[in-house]
Order: sequence, then structure tokens, then C-alpha cells
Amino acid sequence: MKSVTSSILFLFFTFCIIIVFSQASPITITDYPQPNLSFKPNQTQHHQSNSCSYTVTITTSCNSPSFTRDRISLSFGDAYGYQVYVPKLDDPSSRTFERCSTDTFNINGPCTYPICYLYLYRSGYDGWKPESVTVYTHNYQPATFYYNAFIPNGVWYGFDYCRGYLPSTATATAAAAAL
Ligand SMILES: *[C@@H]1O[C@H](CO)[C@@H](O)[C@H](O)[C@H]1NC(C)=O
Ligand SMILES: *[C@@H]1O[C@H](CO)[C@@H](O)[C@H](O)[C@H]1NC(C)=O
Repeated sequence: MKSVTSSILFLFFTFCIIIVFSQASPITITDYPQPNLSFKPNQTQHHQSNSCSYTVTITTSCNSPSFTRDRISLSFGDAYGYQVYVPKLDDPSSRTFERCSTDTFNINGPCTYPICYLYLYRSGYDGWKPESVTVYTHNYQPATFYYNAFIPNGVWYGFDYCRGYLPSTATATAAAAAL
């Protein structure tokens, strides 16, 4: 009886160690959007087939300016180099990105694997604070990126989780080391 209990305890602690080590692996999820000075959208992708359609909903914070005339661009993609780039989302005449509003865009672009990065770019003097961006695709779960932050002027600003999607031996190595 005692040995059964200690075996179970051993398994339990082993399991805990694996959990702890796998979370300590170098997959970092950034909770806050970051500027990425080295990010450049692929400008030549309009030559590609635009065979996939995406629905993107962007909610503008209630703390955003009441309206914005700034130029807003969007780019997102997967860990394998497939990217969607929309140079211009803004359209002040149709009241896009007004405070407390949600805008929906239907976008055609190259087909991607699960989206693991998304960046917004803003240029102008009005300012803009998005709350969140959700990308709906046919083959995968929708991906939501929570900004709740003012987008700085003139820099690609957002999230890149792609390292977590690439084949990673780090987790397996850490678990093996723990055993
Ligand atoms: C910035 O973008 C580049 C190009 O897409 C990417 O390789 C890099 O990991 C990104 N940097 C951060 C900190 O996410
Ligand atoms: C940009 O897209 C084109 C067209 O698909 C492709 O040939 C090229 O390799 C891409 N460039 C980069 C830097 O990913």
C-alpha cells in the first residue's frame, strides 16, 4: 500500500516538474503589444493568389479620440512566411475607427497556417487606440489580439507569438532533463 502511494506521489511530482519546466521553456507570450522596428510587410504580395478570405473585426477603445483621420495599415501572418498585408484600412468618410465602435473588414489574401503575428501601423496626428483585433479564417480558430493601447506613430506595433508555433525541442529537452 505504501509503495503504491509513493509511486503515485512520484508520478504526481514528475508531472508537476514537467508542467513547470514546459512553461519555463523559451516560448514567451507578450501580454502587451510591442513596437517592432525590424518588421516590414511584404509589399510585393499582391502578385500572389488572393485565394483566402478573412474577416477582421477591430474594436476601437472608448478612450480613443472621437474620430481619427490617421492612415491605418494591418499585417498578419503565420510562422511559415505567408502574410496578409492591407496598406489602408482607414476611411474617415465611412466613420471607421471612431471611439467605441467596431469595424468589420473583409480581406482577401494568401492562405495562411494559424496566424501567430499581427501588427498595426498608424501615421497621422489624430491618434488612435484600438481595444482588440480579431481575425476569422475558414480553417482555423479565430485569433484575437488585445491591444487596449494607443498605437505610436510610424512604427509597426503588435504581437508576434510565432516561436510557439514552430517545431520546438525546448519543451521536450526540459522535461527530459527534469526526469
Ligand atoms: C519583429 O519582426 C520580425 C520580422 O517579422 C520577426 O522576425 C521578429 O521576431 C519580430 N520581433 C519581435 C520582438 O517580435
Ligand atoms: C514576398 O512575396 C513574394 C510573392 O509571393 C515572394 O516571392 C517573396 O519571396 C516575398 N518576400 C519576402 C521577403 O517574404
